[in-house]
Amino acid sequence: MENDEAYLFLKEKLNGFVPDTAVVLGSGLGDFTASIKNPIIIPYSSLPGAPKTTVAGHKGNLCAGTIGKHNIICLQGRTHLYEGLRPQYIATSTEHLKKLGVKCFIVTNAAGSLTTNIPAGSLMLINDHINFSAQNPLIGPHKEPYFPDMSKVYDAKMRRQITAIAKKEGIHLYEGVYIMVLGPNYETPAEVKMLRTLGADAVGMSTVPEVITAVHAGLKVLGISVISNLGAGLSKEKNTHDDVLQNVSIASKNLITLLQKFLEEF
Ligand code: HPA
Repeated sequence: MENDEAYLFLKEKLNGFVPDTAVVLGSGLGDFTASIKNPIIIPYSSLPGAPKTTVAGHKGNLCAGTIGKHNIICLQGRTHLYEGLRPQYIATSTEHLKKLGVKCFIVTNAAGSLTTNIPAGSLMLINDHINFSAQNPLIGPHKEPYFPDMSKVYDAKMRRQITAIAKKEGIHLYEGVYIMVLGPNYETPAEVKMLRTLGADAVGMSTVPEVITAVHAGLKVLGISVISNLGAGLSKEKNTHDDVLQNVSIASKNLITLLQKFLEEF
């Protein structure tokens, strides 16, 4: 979605449908779209100029439709900077979402915990982030606002609302700071210690570029991490791949419930 051609293509496909909320679905959350009424599915591969998503478990579709009183557009799978994507591509995609009508940006991801206080298989509401990627999607020809404020990135009202839903549903929602590393390798135990010392609770390889562009575009942001594993060195046993998948599957089900209820109620 780097060019206006992609925007015009999307607008035509949406055929008068105006989304108010975008939901970025991380790995394992593709099933969320099953609850969307009257879905319009647009494969990323059909968008003029779109790169391919290469990570297994990421579907690579846009799915638009309604949940409750919201018109939503889901990004089923995302591209990552570690795939060689230019960060500016992300900025253009967010601008297109805004031009289509989006006001609220919900972002999900899989992340590693940096503390044994937040176990694998749980959910963490992001209350702030650290950009540790040494990249920025806003680099390039300046567009107003030139120096966007980042003091209140994750909307306090939406955080309160989803916390209340979690309580009602009996789902424990941890809260903390997400730090983005470039990847694609996982961290060493020494890096996990360092990231914790920097003030983060969970680490992942996505989300921050999208969120920076969403703030720049004036969108309200809600972010939730699926904690798929403890960071290296935090547990005595080595995580098997099956453990990680099992953890993601439990937490993803809870996250899908939370998001559905959130969109139905608010
Ligand atoms: N580190 C970085 N990114 C991740 C991790 C991790 O441990 N788990 C899921 N995404």
